[in-house]
Amino acid sequence: MSRRRILATNALFYANGPLHLGHMIEAIQSDVWTRFQKLCGHECHYIGGEDAHGTPVMLRARAEGVEAEELIERMGASHRADLEAFHVHFDNYYTTHSPENREYAEAIYRALDAAGHIERRSVKQAYDEEAGMFLPDRFVKGECPNCGTPDQYGDACENCGATYTPADLGNAVSVVSGTRPVLRESEHFFFRLSNFEAQLREWVGGGHVQSAIANKLKEWFEAGLRDWDISRDEPYFGFEIPGAPGKYFYVWLDAPIGYMASFRDYCNRNVGLEFDEFWDRERAAEAGTELNHFIGKDIAYFHTLFWPAMLMGSGHRTPDGVYAHGYLTMNGKKMSKSRGTFITARSWLEFLDAEYLRYYFAAKLGRGVEDIDLNLDDFLARVNSDLVGKYVNIASRSAGFLHKYFDSELAAVEKPLFDGEAVGTEVAALYEKRGFSAAMIRIMELADEINAWWNDKSPWVLARKGKTKSGGKLHRYCSTAVDAFRQLTILLKPVLPETAQRVEAFLDVEPFTWDDLGKPLPAGHRINRYEHLMRRVEPEAVTGLLEASRATRPAQESAPAGKSAAESNKETNMDPIADEITIDDFAKIDLRVARIAVAEHVEGADKLLRLELDLGGETRQVFAGIKAAYDPDTLVGKQVVMVANLKPRKMRFGLSEGMVLAAGPGGKDIFVIAPDDGAEPGMKVK
Ligand code: 2FM
Ligand code: ZN
Repeated sequence: MSRRRILATNALFYANGPLHLGHMIEAIQSDVWTRFQKLCGHECHYIGGEDAHGTPVMLRARAEGVEAEELIERMGASHRADLEAFHVHFDNYYTTHSPENREYAEAIYRALDAAGHIERRSVKQAYDEEAGMFLPDRFVKGECPNCGTPDQYGDACENCGATYTPADLGNAVSVVSGTRPVLRESEHFFFRLSNFEAQLREWVGGGHVQSAIANKLKEWFEAGLRDWDISRDEPYFGFEIPGAPGKYFYVWLDAPIGYMASFRDYCNRNVGLEFDEFWDRERAAEAGTELNHFIGKDIAYFHTLFWPAMLMGSGHRTPDGVYAHGYLTMNGKKMSKSRGTFITARSWLEFLDAEYLRYYFAAKLGRGVEDIDLNLDDFLARVNSDLVGKYVNIASRSAGFLHKYFDSELAAVEKPLFDGEAVGTEVAALYEKRGFSAAMIRIMELADEINAWWNDKSPWVLARKGKTKSGGKLHRYCSTAVDAFRQLTILLKPVLPETAQRVEAFLDVEPFTWDDLGKPLPAGHRINRYEHLMRRVEPEAVTGLLEASRATRPAQESAPAGKSAAESNKETNMDPIADEITIDDFAKIDLRVARIAVAEHVEGADKLLRLELDLGGETRQVFAGIKAAYDPDTLVGKQVVMVANLKPRKMRFGLSEGMVLAAGPGGKDIFVIAPDDGAEPGMKVK
């Protein structure tokens, strides 16, 4: 088998919210696939990162009174920690807000422009005069023009499904300021997608997408490829378009280019890895490298039309595979905070093992785009029955005898219980095509056969009768079972990397490779003491998870999980209740009464007021995001509660040396916490 050279990507995560189980479907799918490729000995580079730009990130940063850079860094750190805990191991994790990404975005844009694929024309768009910004469709709400349902987004009605523009909404309001938007004209840049129709049709015909997506593409081609608006007016968090001051690349223009930027960053740190061999049209063809994208089905349009066309128009290679997965449902329904089924990656980890979820998703994931249902009863039964009852059981049953009677030494295998090499080929073909559920079924069939064989041989009877001669039947049966277990572990290693590592330690062997299938350990090899490999899932853990998730009330109620584009772009005012802390954690926060000595507007800041706080002998400067709610003059002399030991933060406007406590969703509805008269500056708040 020749060594393939593969670059694989996971869709970049929006930098404005925590990861949830919908994100984990894709991350687990792509991680399993890339681990499998590496296990087979292929050169496989697994690339991911943060999708940092766009309006939601900009607004969230503003609402928090921090720079967008600070927000994306914090989100990136939290995403990385979650991914690591789920054993999702990217070879490189980067961000679209990087010099490399700017360079590639500009280069691709320039190439497309030079070849006549960019057109400029004026468009009318909803504009928030108070906030001083154009509004994306999802930032305008009003009554559906078709059925009259109130509170609908500016692009489509969730009640009747009608699609329209924000201008069609009745009684429209801006989600940003609550004011009525006006229509304003501005010049936008369009990518002429239709110029690529013939090439795209050919690419789609080349078998690079799943059949369901190919069918969808047929509809899109038939409906006609529309030009794509790739620019946004300032204020916008992104890259300014070269030669067009005040115009920015739309987040989706530079998002997939972020795959390139992440790979470039990786190449910079890996001597010998050539960027062009994976991205340049000619060089990639010569080198025979592969490019595969894992995505959710909601972003198929971007990855199967815009993205390949951008690559085609700029001298780059096109993807070999774009693999879309379905959405996550919980017990057959969309994830929902009120049902307690909106589960973040973090809360899962507080109650349940990461590998349980990896296994369950693998057992559910097929090649298609069908939705994946996480039914928690089924999950519990499945993990306990398959992993604990069938798989781990084989080792725990046989290892005890080996330690007790044979000094942990293996005998020759009695007879292989299955043809490891043939099974390896069969299961490899399933992994390769992302037929993970079929692979798990096959592996569990083998586990059933092994357990049945063990029961049939009843080695415990031999032990009871004292037939424990070294090299005798009991010894050989146990060694056979351990070897079968070893092979199951290799087959499961892409899904259960941590368990596999523990099995490697237990068997005292080098890290498994696919090649080890069908090659039993030699007689005389000594293994280590068997340590518990996996615990049963307790129903209480599942109940606890649901209860905790119900309590946290995350912001995104209705988006289908995995449909991250729409969901993460929705702005709502509800903040989730944060993870539980102990009283000791709380005691670290030094809350003090402070008197506002000075309050004033800040030049260039549309949310912040600059406050000078008298702490009874000490003065602190704090920038507080309360401008929309308070006239600064009314604040002077007022007593507030502040976090006095918050690490000072450098903000665009100066150093902020603490934080004033306030309640409310934000904007005009924010209320500083004011202690009753009688409190004195500097007093501790208890
Ligand atoms: O839908 C999403 O979550 C996007 N952040 C995916 C971007 S994928 C790539 F283009 F960067
Ligand atoms: Zn409607």
